[in-house]
Amino acid sequence: MKYFLRLSRENLILAREEVISLMKTKKFKLVDNFLIIDEKINFDLLAYTFEVYKFVFYSDKLNIDWNEIIKGSYKVEGENAIKYADIIWNKLKKPKVNMKKPKNQIQFFKIGGKILCGILLKEIKNNFEERKAHRKPGYYPMSLNPKLARAMINLSRGNIILDPFCGAGTILVEAGLMNKKIIGNDVSEKMIKLSKINLKYYKIKDYNLHNYDALKLKLKVDAIVTDPPYGKGSYATINAEELLGRFLKIAGKMLIEKGRIVFTFNKPVKIPKEFKLVRKFKIYIHKSMNKYIYTLEKWK
Ligand SMILES: C[S@@+](CC[C@H](N)C(=O)[O-])C[C@H]1O[C@@H](n2cnc3c(N)ncnc32)[C@H](O)[C@@H]1O
Repeated sequence: MKYFLRLSRENLILAREEVISLMKTKKFKLVDNFLIIDEKINFDLLAYTFEVYKFVFYSDKLNIDWNEIIKGSYKVEGENAIKYADIIWNKLKKPKVNMKKPKNQIQFFKIGGKILCGILLKEIKNNFEERKAHRKPGYYPMSLNPKLARAMINLSRGNIILDPFCGAGTILVEAGLMNKKIIGNDVSEKMIKLSKINLKYYKIKDYNLHNYDALKLKLKVDAIVTDPPYGKGSYATINAEELLGRFLKIAGKMLIEKGRIVFTFNKPVKIPKEFKLVRKFKIYIHKSMNKYIYTLEKWK
């Protein structure tokens, strides 16, 4: 089956890459903020996708046998819905409109001179607002945005996720809610306590937490997703840049072949020879801060 996804314009490249990371094939077409793909993935995991549609057509013509497309009740939504509803009504042998609970929601989007048409399959609601730092019992103001945390986990493609600088556990909570195996670490005992409080609050029971300097970790994982200290206001045992540089070397030993590390930093980073760069994004955090999101993959 062919699908299309309506992506958030907040960061279109990140939204697109997140989907592609979950795909086996890399076949896709991006039109405006719609991604057309041939493959079913676990859509519920996505952070920067609003809805998923079954692809019907992308064309400037409406020559289509609606009797083949619409089985059962339907309603028409989107741009020029009234016009299209009329056309469909006239073409269907037995039109069964249901505005409240239709079996098919036919959706139209006008993109340039063409029409993208689909049947709504699902709206993705991950309630990120409810998991922002100030809504969590283990409050830490330097916490990562949960939506970004989830996209980073998707970029990592991992099932066993290590966050070596876990703070109050934003990445761990998101990964736990995605049913990943989670391992957290932080040098601060206070932060480990906050992570525990937050994990408990979201009823995540299966996790491992360590309280070491990240430079001393010796583990084997298939992905590392992390938001390390970056200087100003966020505590680091040594200079933040040096800490990240030294940690990346260790990450090269902890990751399995082709394992990925996805991390944030406030400046461009030199990629160590153990890794190849998969992607680098610039993300707006607030007025005075942009961050880079790096996805690195361990060489074979
Ligand atoms: C930016 S914060 C992480 C915030 C986290 N992503 C969250 O959402 O709560 C960085 C964390 O790194 C920890 N840290 C600093 N130096 C460390 C080290 N050498 N090893 C492990 N953790 C360290 C700090 O205690 C802090 O909790």
